[in-house]
Amino acid sequence: MSATQPLFQHHKHCDEIFADAEEACGKGDWAGGAKAFAAFAGQLEAHFLSEEEVLFPAFESATGMVSGPTEVMRGEHRQMRELLAQMQQALDERDGEGFGGTAETLLIMMQQHNMKEENILYPMCDSALGASEVGATIAGRLAAA
Ligand SMILES: [Fe+2]
Ligand SMILES: [Fe+2]
Repeated sequence: MSATQPLFQHHKHCDEIFADAEEACGKGDWAGGAKAFAAFAGQLEAHFLSEEEVLFPAFESATGMVSGPTEVMRGEHRQMRELLAQMQQALDERDGEGFGGTAETLLIMMQQHNMKEENILYPMCDSALGASEVGATIAGRLAAA
């Protein structure tokens, strides 16, 4: 397994459960929306942590590139975490318009972020890491999340 294969698949999984949360909140199903949002936020956080704690450090130590693309991705994770917090607040206040607007912003940011990873950073990681334990470690963490 390549180092990034589980993360590739997990992007799709996060997209799907994001759509569930958006749909429930969009039709005013706050109980279902809260549950779906909690599932989504938990999976996204597990995804970010797998990158920040496993993939990025492995890439950085293999290449010596510490303030390059991984630093940019970390900054984008920070921005997306802020949006998640705003969505949680809108959910708590049952503010459908606020939730929907922030969800739209997050969706666009997440799509752009994932595309950069899938097209640029993940291939760089795979070529820098070659056959390593990183993929299995990440798959294990995501499966347990
Ligand atoms: Fe990421
Ligand atoms: Fe990712």
